[in-house]
Amino acid sequence: MSYPTDREICDNSYKLKEFQLVQRNGTWNRESAGFCHSGRLSSAKIYESSTANGRCWTVLSPIVFTYKIIQCENLLDADNDTLLFGHIDNCEELKSSGNPIKRFIVIDEAVHKLYGDKITEYLKARNVIYKMLPLPTTEENKSMELVTKILEEVHKFGIDRRSEPILAIGGGVCLDIVGLAASLYRRRTPYIRVPTTLLAYVDASVGAKNGVNFANCKNKIGGYIPPVAAFLDRSFLETVPRRHISNGLAEMLKMAMMKHKGLFELLEREGRNLLDSKFQTRGETDRADQAHAASASTRIAIETMLEELAPNLWEDDLDRLVDFGHLISPELEMKVLPALLHGEAVNIDMSLMVYLACERGLLAPEERSRVIRCMQSLELPVWHQDCSLELVKKALSERLKHSGGLVRMPLPTALGQAEIFNDTDDDTLCLAFQKWCTELGAGHLPK
Ligand SMILES: NC(=O)c1ccc[n+]([C@@H]2O[C@H](COP(=O)([O-])OP(=O)(O)OC[C@H]3O[C@@H](n4cnc5c(N)ncnc54)[C@H](O)[C@@H]3O)[C@@H](O)[C@H]2O)c1
Ligand SMILES: [Zn+2]
Repeated sequence: MSYPTDREICDNSYKLKEFQLVQRNGTWNRESAGFCHSGRLSSAKIYESSTANGRCWTVLSPIVFTYKIIQCENLLDADNDTLLFGHIDNCEELKSSGNPIKRFIVIDEAVHKLYGDKITEYLKARNVIYKMLPLPTTEENKSMELVTKILEEVHKFGIDRRSEPILAIGGGVCLDIVGLAASLYRRRTPYIRVPTTLLAYVDASVGAKNGVNFANCKNKIGGYIPPVAAFLDRSFLETVPRRHISNGLAEMLKMAMMKHKGLFELLEREGRNLLDSKFQTRGETDRADQAHAASASTRIAIETMLEELAPNLWEDDLDRLVDFGHLISPELEMKVLPALLHGEAVNIDMSLMVYLACERGLLAPEERSRVIRCMQSLELPVWHQDCSLELVKKALSERLKHSGGLVRMPLPTALGQAEIFNDTDDDTLCLAFQKWCTELGAGHLPK
């Protein structure tokens, strides 16, 4: 978004006039800024300037996004209102109106097999008029074709874009595809995310991004339109394959290393149990500390992620701690596709970066060993033969191109603390890479 800088505004030669917008009796009018106005004042502004060539109007129109992320239990119990009304603040009037509720639901095919009956039961018990569309929302199918398919079906079914949000139920792929379809339908139709994998629970559901792959590039087409709400129920994770739980743990570990020592220590202590139990805490044998670990670790992962995302929803600021693990991994992920899951590639990147932080004297060798041991206890790969020095350098030069000429490398400066660096020299990188390969490569474990 471009609007006059303070300097331009102060500069007389710019001949800038500032107007505010005031509404009276349904009509908006521009009025000189700074006066006391009766009527409804917009936060938008219009700046007008005249130049030798003509006139220029600059519109400043702040757009506010509000969305809710709700952690809940028993989302599919018939007496739980969240799925239908959780996105609305005052739903009493709507609930008591007796009007039928209508929902269009897109669901990952595999998730439909596991939970389709339960969802149908819920919708029937609540007298919802619905259409459920199971789709093969795999990474290979993450394309505009599925977006178009959803749009066609939504159009056939017909929804009120003010009051009938589209529901997306599945992993990150499903949520990303549906998010894009919804933001295109009638220019912006509200949608709700119900994540069913750990990665989607702690990562894909929390921010504003949606998208699909295009021209062999990941998420090349997409937007920054958040859902109206995300409803998070850990019980879906019970059926997620173990490797996909590890995959999600990698993104949690990222937030722990960047911002939260307590989360790091929790994952260090309880990570393996979380992996074994798939974050489930029902049943007689469960210990209280395990239940605490499951809820505290997901809560902290989400809170730390939100702290970084909320002030930078459209990623205008390129210095982002959440990019940790995402500098080398895109190149590696695409090179070995489909051998590594996203979180696995991210972890290999983080592992190398930990060696680099140590080589630079930012992290003590004991801290580095703790991190690597923690990664291994979460059953995440810490090294990969295809992650060559050549690939690392290529990935970093790509990063330079797309990050305004600076590498903007987040590195841990202690456990749970980090800073962005732009001054890693080639020799240090080579030394760190050598050490990383010697200590972790081909089956070597750290001391
Ligand atoms: N929008 C964002 O901010 C954001 C953030 C991170 C990742 N992503 C995207 O998310 C995608 C990865 O997400 P993912 O790891 O969830 O992958 P995914 O959606 O492919 O799901 C992984 C696998 O788990 C299966 N599955 C889903 N839920 C299940 C359940 N409850 N029980 C059993 N099986 C289940 C799926 O069918 C699939 O085979 C990537 O495309 C990535 O680009 C988006
Ligand atoms: Zn990621």
